[in-house]
Amino acid sequence: METVVLVIGANGQLGSVLTKALQKKFGLERVIASDLKSINAFHGIFEVIDATNESKIEEIVTRYKVTQIYHLAAILSAKGEETPLKTWDINMKTLFNVLEVSRKNNIDKVFFPSSIAVFGEGAQAINTPNDAYLDPATVYGISKAAGENWAQYYFLRYGLDVRSLRYPGVIGFQSLPGGGTTDYAVDIYHKAVCEEEFDCFLDKNTTLPMIFMDDVIRATISLMDAPKNDITIRTSYNIAGTSFSPAEIVHEIRKLYPGFKVKYNPDFRQEIAARWPKSIDDSAATKDWGWKPKFDLERITVTMIQKLQEKYKTGSKNLEALLF
Ligand code: SER
Repeated sequence: METVVLVIGANGQLGSVLTKALQKKFGLERVIASDLKSINAFHGIFEVIDATNESKIEEIVTRYKVTQIYHLAAILSAKGEETPLKTWDINMKTLFNVLEVSRKNNIDKVFFPSSIAVFGEGAQAINTPNDAYLDPATVYGISKAAGENWAQYYFLRYGLDVRSLRYPGVIGFQSLPGGGTTDYAVDIYHKAVCEEEFDCFLDKNTTLPMIFMDDVIRATISLMDAPKNDITIRTSYNIAGTSFSPAEIVHEIRKLYPGFKVKYNPDFRQEIAARWPKSIDDSAATKDWGWKPKFDLERITVTMIQKLQEKYKTGSKNLEALLF
């Protein structure tokens, strides 16, 4: 049967870029992008879906004969703390809807992103193993830890082929993050290129696992392409890109913008970051489906700055206008 992909959360930081990668892989006619709102100038098929509405997902799955679902919609770590119960409801309801529609409609494969936010103080902070103890301290992290287990449940109970990665903080020039604790590592490049001072909400020595967009897209597609029998982890795979602190990213940026100024004003997000791993052991992903990141901090910095300089050449500082 022909592969037809539904992306839920296609307007997001990752969804917008992953949708394009999937369109390239499968063809424009075989990727259905969806989100709460339709955006102008979108290339390809777009459907408005509120993923809390199971019957709407089912209608689209049936109408387009969807065979794979990428469920990227979620409220992230920092934003989620504003309304903990609502975040839990949305993150879990949307996941259950995707799992149920997938089970009932014999969907071939489902992708569900998890996060380094599933870890807490009970996990070893350096080279955090895949099977570390999970004691997340944010509602987002709790929803992802629960979600991973539900993914495995649907695999074991119903044979649904759900696959998952624990994403580090994602850094890309194509889109903007929203509501995460790792967002600073994208914003900082925009400020550098605009030659503005950066106000950092994390302490300068807070090291976190991060990954470049190219790597994260490659990891996601490699996982989804892997033969079913090679997938030995049905909760979620650790994947690492690189790890750095605000001080280290500033050091790299100053090689290109020596006058770049930064102020440190840690806020509640510092407490979230302090409980997360500093680096990740992704050897299971390497062993099972050949994962290896390509971008270190230096390469991320050179690429981000070059691409953002190209975008900002239009003279506009309206970031929305710079997307795509
Ligand atoms: N980037 C996410 C966040 O900061 C982590 O998954 O919430």
